[in-house]
Formats: sequence, C-alpha cells, structure tokens
Amino acid sequence: MTLSYDELRALDARHVWHPFTQAGTAQPAILALGARGSTIYAADGREYLDLVSSWWVNLHGHANPAIAQAVADQAGRLEQVIFADFTHEPAARLAHRVCKRLPGDLNRVFYSDDGSTAVEVALKLAHQYWRNHGQHRSTYIAFEGGYHGDTAGAMSAGHSSGYFGAWKEMLFPVETVPFPATWNGDETVEDKEQAALDALDLLFAANPDHVAAVIIEPLIQGASGMRMCRPDFLRKLEAKVRDNGSLLILDEVMTGFGRTGEIFACVKAGITPDLICLSKGLTGGFLPLSVTVARDGIFEAFLGQDLSRAFLHGHSYTANPLGCAAGLTSIDLLESAACQQRIGAIEAIHRRRLDGLKGLSNVAHTRLTGTVAALDVIGGGKGYEAGIGPKLKAAFLERGLLLRPLGNVLYLLPPYCITDAELERAWDAVDEVLRSLAK
Ligand SMILES: Cc1ncc(COP(=O)(O)O)c(C=O)c1O
Repeated sequence: MTLSYDELRALDARHVWHPFTQAGTAQPAILALGARGSTIYAADGREYLDLVSSWWVNLHGHANPAIAQAVADQAGRLEQVIFADFTHEPAARLAHRVCKRLPGDLNRVFYSDDGSTAVEVALKLAHQYWRNHGQHRSTYIAFEGGYHGDTAGAMSAGHSSGYFGAWKEMLFPVETVPFPATWNGDETVEDKEQAALDALDLLFAANPDHVAAVIIEPLIQGASGMRMCRPDFLRKLEAKVRDNGSLLILDEVMTGFGRTGEIFACVKAGITPDLICLSKGLTGGFLPLSVTVARDGIFEAFLGQDLSRAFLHGHSYTANPLGCAAGLTSIDLLESAACQQRIGAIEAIHRRRLDGLKGLSNVAHTRLTGTVAALDVIGGGKGYEAGIGPKLKAAFLERGLLLRPLGNVLYLLPPYCITDAELERAWDAVDEVLRSLAK
C-alpha cells in the first residue's frame, strides 16, 4: 500500500514521539524523502542545506556512496552476531584503525551504541578500575555547562548543562568546576583558566584519594553553546589530574573525527586521556555506534581469575558489523587528501566570514575551532530557552538552511563535503538575517 505524504505525516503526528520536542507547540515534522551530500530533500519539494550535520554525526554528507556500499556488502555477509564469545572482521579492524590514530597506549576499545552509552561506560570503568585496585572512589568532577548525554550517569556528569531538571532526584552527585570558555579577542581567558584550575585544586584537596575521574568535552563544549577553550588549558588540566593521581576522561563524542581540524581534540592539544569516548562521526553518520577507548593499564586492572573483576557490561547490538563497516569506510574517506583539504577550506571560510561580522551590534563572542564556527546573538534573551533561537531557526529554514541555534548561540557545523559555494551561501544568509535583526 502506497501512502501519500499527507498520510505519512498524519501517521507520524499520531504515533511518533520526537526527541527534545514539545509536541504541544511544535510545527509538524518535515518529511524527508532523501538526502545527498549536504542537502536534505523534503516531501513538499523544499531543499535544506544541512549545516548541523544532522546532529553532528554526518561527516561526509548524506548517502555517501562508498559508505552505503560498504554497509550493503556487510549486510550480505554478516549483519549482526553476539559479541560475547564471537568477534568479526569489521570490529577488529575498526578498533585497530581508531587506536592507530589515538595517542599513547589507548589500545583497548569497548563498543557500545551512542554517545551517552560511551560516556556511561567510561564512568563505570573508572569506578570499577579503582574498586579493582581496592579503593572506593566515588567523586567525579565535570565542567560547568558540560553535556555528556541522556543516560543516568551521563546526565549526572552533565547536570549543570541545565537540560535535566526533570530528573534531578535520579542523579548521583558530581562536582563541577568552571569551564574557561573563550572567544576571539577575549582578554580575560588567562584569569578564567586559572580560576578553573584553582577550583580543581580545591576539590582535589577536599577529596584526597577519592576522585575517580575528571571528565571534559575537550576544546568545545557542544550542547551548552559551542563554548570553546584553549588547548593550553587542556595541557594544564591533564598535568593536574596526573599530579593528583586521578583519571582523565575525554568526551570526544562531538569533537572526534576531524571536527576540531585534527583527527581528535586530544591530538590537537597534545594530551593523552585515560579513557576517551567517541561516537557521532564514527560511522560517518550512517549507523549508531560508539567506542570507549581505554589505556592498557586500565584494561589490565580488570584481568584476573575472578569474574567479578571483569567489566560485566554490554548491549545487544555491541559492535554491530554494519556500523563497524561504515566506520572503516568513513575513516578511509576522512584520511583522504580530498577530505583533509575540505576541512581546511571550511575553517578558512568560517574565519573570513566571522571576521566579516565584526562591528555588528547584535553579534558577540565570535569563535572558531576547526570546522565549528559559533557566535552569540545579543538582544533576544540568553541561554537554551532564549526566544531568539526559534526565530532564527525559522528564518533560516525559510531560506532553505538547516541551522538550529542553541538558545542565542548560532553555530555552523557542516559536513566536510560541503562545497565552498554552499558554505558561502549559508554565511550570506547568516549575514543578512543578523544585519536585519540589528536594525
Ligand atoms: C559531547 C557529547 N557527549 C555525549 C553526547 C550524547 O550522545 P548521544 O546523543 O549519541 O547519546 C553528546 C550528544 O550531543 C555530546 O555532544
């Protein structure tokens, strides 16, 4: 039975519960018929340039033919197999490929399904690591504004992001220190970094031998508004965690796989965490998959004759072969000279266009890290619920651009395949909309 687009939309409206959406006030969902490269094609004939890489996952554009082929080939060979007692080629090869690009002895890959579970795994690993060493460490330290996902541990670590008020009684306590967010021309950055490090010192002093781990989104805090910090701060943070004998968890769910201009933010900053969480770009945006990668010493602490020392955690679809096959091809594409050229070109266009907004009275705190450009829009409220956000989103959708401001923060995070002309067109629209609001 073929359904008309109106019938499909009616089914959606009747039965589907959309994420992060107040169904009581939301516009009906746009019915996507297909997508190719940077463009999403809707049933009503409209086209949208995807400037958010469909929730930051889509590295090489939609329906990339090489990844589609790899997934199809894999589906014909082995679509899924239980990952206890069994392994398979795509999982072993992908683990090797990821480790090869990570610094130090980050050599052990634990697969799970999405960014939240990658973080959940890291938090649980840190806890059990200390337990296996005969220590009870229950203090976690996170950064103000950090967002780490929607499972209970990830929400606890991200409690200060402001997204989780409805569940605060469900969460375990996590300490927070200020995040030294900075921007172009910021003269206060050193003071903010020192304040963050001082706050960390106080927490370590108050919890001797009790801090299980410090978790941070390195270089860019995503969901709390593309807040950026300097690589130098991360180096100081790493030194402090080492001095205090704790563990460092990097949540690179968003920053991984080229977003910051380098393969990983930790590589750009020159630091080596104990645990790193990767997802989003891992499969190039094709399938849900994530990894938590541990240093050798972490893995070794789980070895022994006793089952209770092992990490008794897993998911039905752990290391799904289709996702791993997509991941292998996505990394091939990412490492190609053509893709690296695009990443550099995107950053250069972002920089020039952000500079071009200088002097606009309603633009502040322009900032850039690799392929992520962001700015604050002044004069329409602040924070996630700022009224200006929905207005900007509507104005851009009207112009065929998928841009989803985080409150009053406007950001562009395009797929790497976006052409210069497409990106310039997006910035032209940003320029026009911001200028019209400034009047
Ligand atoms: C830094 C970071 N960590 C974790 C998550 C959670 O990932 P997922 O939505 O795939 O569970 C996100 C999602 O936006 C994120 O940006």
